[in-house]
Order: sequence, then C-alpha cells, then structure tokens
Amino acid sequence: MDDRFEEYEKAVSGTKEFYDRFAPYYDEFVPPKEMRTDRIDSLVACIKEKARCSNDKLHILELGCGTGSYAIPLAQSGHSVIGIDISSEMRYLAVKKLGGQLPADFKYLTSDWLSAFETWENEFDCILCIGNSLIHNPPSILPNLFTAAFRALRAGGILILNGRRIERELDMVEGMDITQNDICRSSGPARAFGIEPRIALRFMFMTKIGLIQENKTVIAFYTYDNYEEDGRRFVCHRMLFDNLQTVETKPVEYDTWATKTYFIFKNQLIKVLKECGFSGVREESPDREHFKLEKNWYVVAQRPIN
Ligand SMILES: C[S@@+](CC[C@H](N)C(=O)[O-])C[C@H]1O[C@@H](n2cnc3c(N)ncnc32)[C@H](O)[C@@H]1O
Repeated sequence: MDDRFEEYEKAVSGTKEFYDRFAPYYDEFVPPKEMRTDRIDSLVACIKEKARCSNDKLHILELGCGTGSYAIPLAQSGHSVIGIDISSEMRYLAVKKLGGQLPADFKYLTSDWLSAFETWENEFDCILCIGNSLIHNPPSILPNLFTAAFRALRAGGILILNGRRIERELDMVEGMDITQNDICRSSGPARAFGIEPRIALRFMFMTKIGLIQENKTVIAFYTYDNYEEDGRRFVCHRMLFDNLQTVETKPVEYDTWATKTYFIFKNQLIKVLKECGFSGVREESPDREHFKLEKNWYVVAQRPIN
C-alpha cells in the first residue's frame, strides 16, 4: 500500500480509539455553544451566498460531525445533512441527544472520510470540516481528500475548513515573558510529568481545562513525542485524564487515550486546495461575529462553476 494511505489508516484507527473513549465527555469539554441557532443561521446564510444557492434546502456533508454540534441543528432547520465520523461512540452520543432518533434528513455514516467519499459526485452545496477535525489527518493525505471533496461538490459548491492558529500561538508563546507559576497553573500535567519548562511552554497553549462535574476536572492536552524545530513540524500526543491527582501517580495507565495529531498550517492547506482545482480559495470566517478568528482560521474554497 502507498505510504500515504498506510499513514492515513493508522491515523484514522487512532482517532477512532481516542474519540470512542472521549465521546461521553465531548459535549461538556467542548461546550455545545456550537449548537446556537444564531450561529447556524449565519453559517447557512454564508453557504447560500457563496455557493449561490437558490434552494431553501441545502445539501450538506459534514466531515467529522462528532456529537452533531453542527449537523443536528442544520438538519433540524430543514437542510439535508450527511455526517461522516469514524467514531461509533460519537454517533451514539449524537443519537442519544436526540432521544434515540436522528432527524429524517440527517444521515450519520460511521466511516472514515476517504472511503465514504467514493459514493458521491456533483452532490453537495457545501462540505464542512470544522471544529478542528482536520488535525487528525496526516497532511500527505490532503490532496486525496480534497480531490474527493471537489468531485463530491456540485459546481459552485463550497468547502469550509477550519483549524487552530498554531503558528501564531507558537510565536506568541515564544515571545512571552511567562513565570514558572504561570506555566504550572496552566499546564499542571507538564509539571506532573516533570516535562522541561521550555517544552511545557510550547504545549501550554494547547492545554485546556474543563469542569465536567463538580469536583471532577478533565484535562486534555498534548505532549510532543517528536519535535522538529526546522520544519516547524510537531507531532504530538493528546491525552485525557480524569483527575490531575491521579495523573501524578499513574501517568502510564492513560497511554491508550493518546492519539497522534498533525499540525496543518493554513497556507499549506490553501496551496493544496488550489492544486486540487478549487477557486476563490481564501481565509475567511463564515461569519465574523460567531466564528472568531483570533484562535482559529477558516478557509473557504469553491468548486468552479465552469
Ligand atoms: C474535534 S472533533 C469535532 C467534532 C465536531 N465537528 C464538532 O465541532 O464538535 C473531530 C471529529 O472528527 C472525526 N474524524 C477526524 N478525522 C476523521 C477521518 N479521517 N474520518 C472519519 N472521522 C474523522 C473524529 O472521530 C471526531 O469525532
């Protein structure tokens, strides 16, 4: 098998394992603010305008639909949605949220993206891949993914992608005068593992702490398992812990919660999209008020009409 596909398959199986375990916490950890209908309205307005849709009902494909934060309200507001996600547990959570039944116009496929793409040609008004889902996919597979997305869109249809502003955050972190206390406060796990502060600084920006229940804190963070400064390429592991105290005594136990993530830089992505035939490729928020650009980038690309 081509190395690219081998790497992709490995990444997908790690992603599945990770999200199958993470699923029960997902909506609390990533607050369901994404479900806000005003946000969905502005997303729909953006798609209609950019994809020049005259129909009220959009045909949307969401890559990495997770627990349905976008797909569910989109389907509930009258659009036809297909979501693809490799995690059956994320699907289970999406269905559970809806009291056991998906809306008629929401089809949730448990599959990896590339395999599912074989089905469609000239279908969708929009393909969404938002909520930082791309980072689970090796950059080498992007040309295959975007070629398949191009074919699946109807002429004039748009692709909306998003990711974290890694480069900007790294620069900020590198330039900042941060005390040891700041590091410990925001990256307790780094301290727990005795990770050298220079490295801790570099992953601190990815440390997130979310209160799941009273007295229970879930911490998800990334550590670098391979750090190559030259290519600005970082390979990291994401880990999730139930409780900081436990982490301090049993770090190894949680290794199976890790999944590799890839840093996908916006400019690299724009280049690949253009090579795959997309036009009008640019960084653009679907709606500035709701899709904030400080920490995330959004890229919109169109399948040309002719
Ligand atoms: C960070 S979550 C985002 C979920 C949702 N979009 C949201 O904003 O809440 C990423 C999701 O993408 C899925 N995913 C990532 N790469 C995938 C791939 N190649 N094939 C199928 N699912 C994938 C994961 O299983 C996970 O549920």
